[in-house]
Amino acid sequence: MGGSDRSVVISGGGTGIGRAIAARFAGQGDKVTILGRRADVLRAAAQEIEGAHPVQVVAVDLSVPEEIEQSLRELPERVDVLVNNAGRRGTPVRAGGLKEAAERWRRDFDNNVLPTVLLTEALLPRLTRPGGRVVTLGSLAALRGNGAYGAMKAALLAWNHTLAQQLGPHGATANVVVPGFVAGTEFFGALADREELARRRAQTLVGEVGKPDDIAAAVAFLASPEARYITGEFLNCNGGAMLGR
Ligand SMILES: NC(=O)c1ccc[n+]([C@@H]2O[C@H](COP(=O)([O-])OP(=O)(O)OC[C@H]3O[C@@H](n4cnc5c(N)ncnc54)[C@H](OP(=O)(O)O)[C@@H]3O)[C@@H](O)[C@H]2O)c1
Repeated sequence: MGGSDRSVVISGGGTGIGRAIAARFAGQGDKVTILGRRADVLRAAAQEIEGAHPVQVVAVDLSVPEEIEQSLRELPERVDVLVNNAGRRGTPVRAGGLKEAAERWRRDFDNNVLPTVLLTEALLPRLTRPGGRVVTLGSLAALRGNGAYGAMKAALLAWNHTLAQQLGPHGATANVVVPGFVAGTEFFGALADREELARRRAQTLVGEVGKPDDIAAAVAFLASPEARYITGEFLNCNGGAMLGR
């Protein structure tokens, strides 16, 4: 699936779902660049991922505009596929007043909205048209609710509509993949113990929690030339954990 030898940029590509996405594109012959804050984590992933081209790494905090501007010279001049995968689990609600609430919401905004919006703004002039693809990672939390984190992922769904409107006339698309629970990433870390896994498994219709490869398959489809007529959409990928949307 998908044209090979494309230039693919993946935020948060050093771990979890992003890493599986990177391996998938690299495996089909694409030139992959992975971004994240930890250079050592990125380098280790790049060494392990097999493909026709070496995986490029760029260490950058995508919530900081100046860092993105500085990283632009290390990023590819042409981008065929941009995967906005970087994000972080919501800040747990603890007792506190309005000051703490404001800090929590700002942190979840910095962690989940800014990396996607800023990286896209920065790379938009380099996105191939026609044929360019932007695929963003949302969350079931956007549809089901989960405090500030869910609200931030919902913001990305609305933002994606505007991006699709911008790109559509130029033959490029923008879509969101919406995972349910996915095990084996840093996202839940030790929180995903056996009991939690069993609870999450029971919520699905297929009797399995998601794997990073399941999400990578959905991303690869929306990034493929075959998906040219799908834009401004979101694709649920949750094993049936939620029906009807
Ligand atoms: N796992 C799930 O069940 C699940 C469910 C629904 C949606 N999602 C979404 O899927 C995406 C991937 O999550 P995951 O489960 O694979 O978790 P993960 O292993 O924690 O991956 C997140 C990645 O994003 C990077 N990142 C975070 N903030 C960044 C920043 N400011 N600048 C640059 N890179 C940043 C992290 O690297 P550094 O820490 O090195 O920066 C990390 O590699 C996220 O958007 C998440 O919200 C996950």
